[in-house]
Amino acid sequence: MQALDTRQLHINQKMRFLTGLILSCLLSLSLADGSINPRRFPKTLRIGVANAAPQIEGAWDEDGKGETIWDRFAHKHPEKFVDRSTPDIACDSYRKYKEDIALVKAMGLDHYRLSIAWSRVLPTGYTDKVNKAGVEYYKNVFKELKANNIKPMVTIYHWDLPQPLQDQMNGWLNESIVDVFGDYAKFVFETFGDDADWWITINEPKQVCQAGYGSGVFAPGIVSNGVLDYVCTKHVLLAHARAWHIYNEQFRAKNKGQVAMVIDSTWYEPGSDRDEDKAAAERAIQFDLGIYGNPLFNGDWPEIVKQRVADRSEREGFNTSRLPEFTKEQIDYIKGTSDYLAINHYSTLLTYHAPDAPIGTPSFDKDKSVALSHRSDWTQGSADWFFDVPWGLRNLLNWLKNTYNNPEIVITENGFSDTTGTLEDENRIVYLRGHLSACLDAIFADKVNLTGYTVWSIMDDWEWTGGYTSFLGMYRVNFTDPARPRIKRKSADYFTGIMKARCLVDESKCVE
Ligand SMILES: *[C@@H]1O[C@H](CO)[C@@H](O)[C@H](O)[C@H]1NC(C)=O
Ligand SMILES: *[C@@H]1O[C@H](CO)[C@@H](O)[C@H](O)[C@H]1NC(C)=O
Ligand SMILES: *[C@@H]1O[C@H](CO)[C@@H](O)[C@H](O)[C@H]1NC(C)=O
Ligand SMILES: *[C@@H]1O[C@H](CO)[C@@H](O)[C@H](O)[C@H]1NC(C)=O
Repeated sequence: MQALDTRQLHINQKMRFLTGLILSCLLSLSLADGSINPRRFPKTLRIGVANAAPQIEGAWDEDGKGETIWDRFAHKHPEKFVDRSTPDIACDSYRKYKEDIALVKAMGLDHYRLSIAWSRVLPTGYTDKVNKAGVEYYKNVFKELKANNIKPMVTIYHWDLPQPLQDQMNGWLNESIVDVFGDYAKFVFETFGDDADWWITINEPKQVCQAGYGSGVFAPGIVSNGVLDYVCTKHVLLAHARAWHIYNEQFRAKNKGQVAMVIDSTWYEPGSDRDEDKAAAERAIQFDLGIYGNPLFNGDWPEIVKQRVADRSEREGFNTSRLPEFTKEQIDYIKGTSDYLAINHYSTLLTYHAPDAPIGTPSFDKDKSVALSHRSDWTQGSADWFFDVPWGLRNLLNWLKNTYNNPEIVITENGFSDTTGTLEDENRIVYLRGHLSACLDAIFADKVNLTGYTVWSIMDDWEWTGGYTSFLGMYRVNFTDPARPRIKRKSADYFTGIMKARCLVDESKCVE
């Protein structure tokens, strides 16, 4: 799951809040029905679930796995985690993967998004030491998926940098990471190229860079807001492009796969019809999403990002823009290196113009400069930025279509988080139904070329700094039971039903 600038989860355990949540769920259930798209899911739309190695596998130091920046961050800085938790055991999927895949199969899903833990296969991060047990583990996962006729979607990097690469070379701040990541990606394509053909290089680079090297709330916890986070952004884009070029030149002819980077974005709806609010909404999405999408699909940084960071940098006394430039060669090297547009989306916010912050300490948010709010009748999830607004997803899909010349789009994450973990998760059902309906509207009415929709997630997991207090699973996991049992929620039955009908309404009312 992604998160916004304010990373702190606002856990509200007051009954008043719970009652409000339940009431608003019942209300939206009855209100939403009429607007649900009755079309049968098109054959071209694959539907699946997503997760990531550091959030589910556990076995953090077993069978030769190396330490990651998240292992280190959790062990050294428990105060950064709302429940002082670690990913040491998580869902224990390292042992229980067959059970997980059986749940995916039982739900009738088309695909399963997983990530390969870099340090499980290459403990030091480099290709000179291969961990056979790690390779074996993923080979077994792929074998199990194949036996169950479930298509794997594989993320090569889901935030879990091998710790030695942070210690020895400053991780994503060092341009040499482009070579090191390229070597790792090549190793993955060589080792697993016959097992999978649907690839994601890097997940949510905004979180890797802005939270990891800017605000510092995520591993490795480097604080350099508005300076080194942009350096990271440049390197992440170059590293992704390196991996794509390697696949394109050495593997595509044989393995015929698709390679993309996953970008995460909230939908920023203008708070009013005023031009300055519309400009603020566009600016917000360009800073969050366009900073990755524009180099990949149009070439170079978005103009508004270049202008604003250069202008503020100059007034702050920097000799050059804090946003590093791309050379002409780099622009060409990155442009066109996403075979499809992969998007993680969870929430929508209302966006307003905000006066420029006074010149002082640089920061990404001051560069972006917007004010955010939400409508009081939106159902809230587990965070202060998390709201159930299906039409926001439809607007986002249309924005992507129009801004990036109608690319093939795959939603690689979408789902609802709550703080209760209830098994009677009506709010999750309403969220998933509404968002899938918005996808059908986008496909059939707006002609968006959407070919995949992926729920986060099949089961509860370790939600980074949110630990085990933010629940997104269609199955609950009991994290205090050593056996980590998976317990079905109501949403699992709901989703099994829609996968059977491949339709969101009563079978008799489905429209072909
Ligand atoms: C960048 O990485 C290279 C190669 O690993 C290393 O020699 C160099 O010291 C690193 N630079 C910094 C600033 O960490
Ligand atoms: C930046 O500009 C200042 C003032 O003009 C100058 O003294 C300094 O040498 C410059 N630094 C670099 C790295 O160019
Ligand atoms: C969607 O994108 C895929 C992959 O580029 C392409 O094969 C397909 O024709 C596109 N579909 C539509 C309706 O444009
Ligand atoms: C979780 O497991 C523990 C240990 O087996 C058990 O005591 C507890 O009741 C379980 N919690 C739930 C909500 O099922």
